[in-house]
Amino acid sequence: QEDIFKNVVSHAKEYGFIFPSSEVYDGLSAVYDYAQNGVELKKNIREYWWKSMVQMNENIVGLDAAILMHPTTWKASGHVDAFNDPLIDNKDSKKRYRADTLVEDYCKKLEDKAKKEIDKAKARFGDAFNEEEFVTTNARVVEYLGKKKEILSRLAKGMTDDLQDVKALIEELGIADPETGSKNWTDVKQFNLMFGTKLGASAESAMDLYLRPETAQGIFVNFLNVQKSGRMKVPFGIAQTGKAFRNEIVARQFIFRMREFEQMEMQFFVRPGEEMKWYHHWKDTRLKWHLSLGLGKENYRFHDHEKLAHYANAAADIEFNFPFGFKELEGIHSRTDFDLKAHEKYSGRKLQYFDAELNENYVPYVVETSVGLDRMFLAVFATSLQEETLEDGSTRTVLKLPAVLAPTKAAVLPLVKKDGLPEVSRKIIEDLKWDFNVAYDEKDAVGRRYRRQDALGTPFCITVDHQTLEDETVTIRHRDTMKQDRVKITELRGIIENEVSM
Ligand code: GAP
Repeated sequence: QEDIFKNVVSHAKEYGFIFPSSEVYDGLSAVYDYAQNGVELKKNIREYWWKSMVQMNENIVGLDAAILMHPTTWKASGHVDAFNDPLIDNKDSKKRYRADTLVEDYCKKLEDKAKKEIDKAKARFGDAFNEEEFVTTNARVVEYLGKKKEILSRLAKGMTDDLQDVKALIEELGIADPETGSKNWTDVKQFNLMFGTKLGASAESAMDLYLRPETAQGIFVNFLNVQKSGRMKVPFGIAQTGKAFRNEIVARQFIFRMREFEQMEMQFFVRPGEEMKWYHHWKDTRLKWHLSLGLGKENYRFHDHEKLAHYANAAADIEFNFPFGFKELEGIHSRTDFDLKAHEKYSGRKLQYFDAELNENYVPYVVETSVGLDRMFLAVFATSLQEETLEDGSTRTVLKLPAVLAPTKAAVLPLVKKDGLPEVSRKIIEDLKWDFNVAYDEKDAVGRRYRRQDALGTPFCITVDHQTLEDETVTIRHRDTMKQDRVKITELRGIIENEVSM
């Protein structure tokens, strides 16, 4: 698995998808740049999301709020007081960890042990196996799961009451530095994840600002502006894509956890009391959206939260099977009226909606869907990158991107660099480029050019040869099957359109 991940990172660099930021200065940790092909793939994912959320839903509209916001926003949202990571250092290794993650990982191990027992029993008893009964009666499973529950509730209490209890828990359980095995821990300290900056030139008048840690608050503070100007009726949604910034402490997994990243969020405003209905609706709808990309149903699962954030009354993650295991890809949160009420309180302005049907004023409840664009990129890219052994025993690297997301939809290749073939190729490109991203490539033998396009994820290669000059036909090669068909130039647009349209 580690090898697969290394391959992903090096392929992304070699083929112009992702570079480390400011690489000439040896990069900046957990910050990355999207290169010529990456920027196209990322844009296509964003568009695929935008179309399905905004264009396809009459009651969802878009927004592009600024990254810089009035600083009181973050007081109201709870980010100034509560957007903290509890950190603990190992005194020997000087490595830094999230204290709660250390405990949670310990609990995961307990759960894995219970799972092993359950799987063993399942194999032994077959159809007669009753899992519900087994987990409540088998002594070992009861012990593992009971201990896990007890530890997690102590952790939750420590996180709200006294962080040094979390340290005591780590010491009691004998949790060691995962990298060095040392058990010599410092106290737990809170660390706020927001990036600070200043507005204004002179020291006295400068105002402390934050770079937004989520796009959602730009939607909340604009809720009434959009509702009034768009004459929106509850239930309705506001969607937004844009950069967010977090000073992440543990940021080692390429573009999975970045310090500057992009979110695609939608806040859906509903009648109080109807939020659970919409929460389930959006959980289903969002999973279907992911499945529509065809990366494999088995690669997704829900994780319902037991520990809820301060603003939520229900929350779930859609987890994806990344090269390093199942991890959060998207969050669906029932945020109640927490945010709008908080902005009412801090701004002194009413953020209420008049529901004509009910003849009532209220602060709407909110169901949010929030997916990281970079994480989507990683999910799509890593799953699509495949090493295939062909019939003749040779191997090929192919990036089997969903055609709708591919950076380049077709490459046009003259078989040779003479006899007028480049000119005909250029003419085909002139015609297709109004509708699709198309590339021209005349360098190297045609077999090598096919391989290069395979590695870039280009769904089609169009080859122009001498027969083209006679009958205006070309070969079109399909990336995944490597099958080649002879077709008329005039048919190309329809064939490509059929595969790549949303
Ligand atoms: N408005 C809700 C919110 O921001 P979140 O769970 O903190 O919720 C939502 O973030 C999504 O944003 C995550 O599911 C993930 O895909 C993405 N995300 C969060 N932090 C990230 C980071 N440091 N790097 C890349 N993506 C991140």
